[in-house]
Amino acid sequence: AELRRDEQPSGSVETGDGAASRGCGAAPAPGSKDKPSKKTFSEVQEERREQAQRSVLIHCPNTVSEKKFLKYLSQHGPIHTHFFYESFGFYAVVEFCQKDSVDSLLNRTQTPATGTEAAIPFRSRFLYLKPKGPSSHAAKQSLARSSNHLPPSKRKLFELLCSAESVDDQLNTLLKEFQLTEENTRLRYLTCSLIEDIAAAYFPECTIRPFGSSVNTFGKLGCDLDMFLDLDETRRLSTQKSRGNFLMEFQVKNVPSERIATQKILSVLGEFLDHVGPGCVGVQKILNARCPLVRFSHQASGFQCDLTTNNRIALKSSELLYIYGTLDTRVRALVCSVRCWARALSLTSSIPGAWITNFSLTMMVIFFLQQRSPPILPTLDTLRASADEEDKCIIEGNNCTLVRDLNKIKPSENTETLGKCFSLFPFQFKQTFLLFSLFYFLAELLLKEFFEYFGNFAFNKNSINIRQGREQNKPDSSPLHIQNPFETSLNVSKNVNQSQLQRFVDLARESAWFLQQEDGDRPSPSSRQPWGLAALLLQTVAPSKRVQKKLPSERIKSLLESVKSNSTQSSTNTSGKQALS
Ligand code: GTP
Ligand code: MG
Repeated sequence: AELRRDEQPSGSVETGDGAASRGCGAAPAPGSKDKPSKKTFSEVQEERREQAQRSVLIHCPNTVSEKKFLKYLSQHGPIHTHFFYESFGFYAVVEFCQKDSVDSLLNRTQTPATGTEAAIPFRSRFLYLKPKGPSSHAAKQSLARSSNHLPPSKRKLFELLCSAESVDDQLNTLLKEFQLTEENTRLRYLTCSLIEDIAAAYFPECTIRPFGSSVNTFGKLGCDLDMFLDLDETRRLSTQKSRGNFLMEFQVKNVPSERIATQKILSVLGEFLDHVGPGCVGVQKILNARCPLVRFSHQASGFQCDLTTNNRIALKSSELLYIYGTLDTRVRALVCSVRCWARALSLTSSIPGAWITNFSLTMMVIFFLQQRSPPILPTLDTLRASADEEDKCIIEGNNCTLVRDLNKIKPSENTETLGKCFSLFPFQFKQTFLLFSLFYFLAELLLKEFFEYFGNFAFNKNSINIRQGREQNKPDSSPLHIQNPFETSLNVSKNVNQSQLQRFVDLARESAWFLQQEDGDRPSPSSRQPWGLAALLLQTVAPSKRVQKKLPSERIKSLLESVKSNSTQSSTNTSGKQALS
């Protein structure tokens, strides 16, 4: 869905430190640029969930006076925070201080009396604010202003990247422009909470939990909203000891398998969302997929939603990525630029197919960072070794144990790249530089080295394994093999075919070469020539200029080989290291 991009939103925060979160004790957004949060994943989830339960989503006229709107709602209790945004209409998210206020508001809300159409009555926290007369409208200067939920346009991004000081600065800009804002994060949790209200019509004790890039710190504005229906409360065995000679059980319907149970549950929910769910449109039931799901658009929030059930392992994978994204600030910058790069070069797509996915790309970045010397990220085995008894977690027979307290993980001692570049500078300069530039300076070098690493990886025989943090022999013949972190017999990139992998390798090699050439090669600011990441990512903006920099693959490969001092042979396939070094 299209949301209006407002360059200077009021009450809007890019990273969780602005008006919307001021004084509300909010957890930092997954996209926060502040110091990495040391909160555990489940603490953040609980805080966000609780915030969402105190919130309502209101469709209002875009001429509404912000002051009058807030005064009207304050009748029900103090408001913690609020913001406006535009999707298919103008909307407000209002978070009250207490949940009672939401109940009070709902008690004074009525089902619309319609004329020619008939309403299907449903009480939810998605409301419509109807002006009673002209006095509710605002003068131009006091109109409510909308916050931004859109990634930058190509043109805007092009301008921002071209006017950056350095490639490091470009990486910084990319992350800042694409990361989820505080408001966008709130809206994601609120949307899950609203869907939970709908699902609760069937399963009163259910929880709808967001997972995937909305919560794993790697989300980009515009990414889909993955959610799953958690029925653990409904399934839970009663904690009350049963007295007497008998045991009482609920009568339930039995079906032949878990998969069929999942399909049945999703089928009724899909129907219900389609027929009754306020704001839910374009519902598709994709029940024969490996992981059955219901896909729909939540029109009011603008999110494309994927609803699954029984997906605890995916939530655990999100927790794992959250830990990696929070441990070291370089990780998010690198993942963001690799994801943007892959999207810009059509290596990834929103349509399912033989392409590499963002999840696989993230696993590759994590694996690459585990290979540095000393490693920037710990292996999954190390995260497990630091876990205590309380962290133990077995899901469907898979050991999903992880250390939850991030403070127990030793920060990386990796400064290798920086060390090499520093030896020429005086001590004081080194200190200042270290303080202000450590993260982005390394990110630039790391991006180049990521491309070089995977441009030369022996995909034909090796598997990527973040559990042990080292290459392993491939257990099967899939072109790209990335071991599923928790279900170790599975390959997360099973869908990728040889030609897509080859495109990835070719483009990684070209990009490594391109960034190598870009070192210190920033044109004068007045030239407005695309350079660095602008030239690498936005070739469609100024194709003629990009073409000048782009060389045919074969020539690039040979140049790349020539810069590798230990290279002895050449290669044009994905057999990587054996061929190139
Ligand atoms: P976006 O492209 O920004 O949506 O990234 P994403 O991480 O949300 O990916 P996606 O929506 O495709 O999948 C959501 C989540 O499902 C991922 O974050 C993973 O936790 C999980 N997931 C996706 N694909 C796989 C897979 O092939 N194997 C496993 N084990 N989990 C997967
Ligand atoms: Mg997703």
